[in-house]
Amino acid sequence: MDFIDLKAQQRRIRKELDAAIGRVLDHGAYVMGPEVRAFEAALAHFGQAKLALSCANGTDAVVLPLMAWGVGPGDAVFCPSFTFAATAEVVPWTGATPVFVDILPDTYNLDPAHLELAIEETLKAGKLKPKAVIAVDLFGQPADYPKIAQICRKHGLKLLADSAQGFGCTLGGQHPLHWADATATSFFPAKPLGCYGDGGAVLVNDQGLWDVMDSLRIHGKGTDKYDNVRIGMNSRLDTLQAAVLLEKLKLFAEEIVLRNQVADRYARGLTGLAVWPKVIEGGVSTWAQYTIEHPDRDGLAAHLKAQGIPTAAYYPRPTHMQSAYVDFPVAGGHLPVTEAKAKLVLSLPMHPYLSHVDQDLIVEAIRGYGG
Ligand SMILES: Cc1ncc(COP(=O)(O)O)c(C=O)c1O
Repeated sequence: MDFIDLKAQQRRIRKELDAAIGRVLDHGAYVMGPEVRAFEAALAHFGQAKLALSCANGTDAVVLPLMAWGVGPGDAVFCPSFTFAATAEVVPWTGATPVFVDILPDTYNLDPAHLELAIEETLKAGKLKPKAVIAVDLFGQPADYPKIAQICRKHGLKLLADSAQGFGCTLGGQHPLHWADATATSFFPAKPLGCYGDGGAVLVNDQGLWDVMDSLRIHGKGTDKYDNVRIGMNSRLDTLQAAVLLEKLKLFAEEIVLRNQVADRYARGLTGLAVWPKVIEGGVSTWAQYTIEHPDRDGLAAHLKAQGIPTAAYYPRPTHMQSAYVDFPVAGGHLPVTEAKAKLVLSLPMHPYLSHVDQDLIVEAIRGYGG
């Protein structure tokens, strides 16, 4: 059994993928070829955005808006710690400081009340200027954007949705960009919308912001090819990956429905056996992960492994407790919810093509664990 079965999807569209890759090999425009523009347009349309800008990976997709907004030394960027390290990692790249904020115990996403506290604390300390908030759509479900956006407006902060795991998620039918100034996503193969290598994108509604990021992703290019107007980077999505993504995007809406069916079936099977984060009211998750809590997480993982069921712990060590991050500020001194969840979480196999047979096996194996 696979934790994420990418081959089942490939079997469905192998012919289309071969043809799409063949077209790129024929025209030979491997960098910024026509598929890149076509994919950006299709992605923006899917994400209810005016514009999308593709780039080399999801990490760059998180940093590009920060760079474009001029986030830099002396600035505070508020973000959760219960996420993949890339969310906070890019903040020091700009010279700014990540300030870690706790999550809600029911959704695992940014706690708006704790965010307020973090901003107040930072203002009171007077060392850093609050500049931006990065909200993460953890495991695929939307953060509480209406509340977070209201706090951002009150304090004049930019709001970035790190939707690397959650691209395609909605709240009240709206994508995160409805509230955020920019949405970042990743096309790492295991993500709900993944390519066959690294890739990422930023979705925005502001042409000016898109233009600056377009310059940043190509070494700070200006209108004159030999006059770079800002310090940028090399962060382009390969044409081959755009060609693959164009085919995968055609299935994506259907796959989100299938993922929700798998999640609903888990919920029915596991009721009374485990608890798991609940999706915010009005939210639709893309279920990048299906995660349960168990007091003996490691014991359960070993029990499942012995029966051929792969699992993963996301995330056993919160970012603020990792070696490279221990000196950055933590709102309120520690993050009790984050620290507690890190000890409990176990993610189960999850993908749109998980069979009923395999799912029943997983549920029965969990039922059979005596602890
Ligand atoms: C929440 C989050 N942010 C950012 C990233 C970075 O994406 P990538 O691996 O494509 O650089 C990831 C992916 O692993 C992620 O899960």
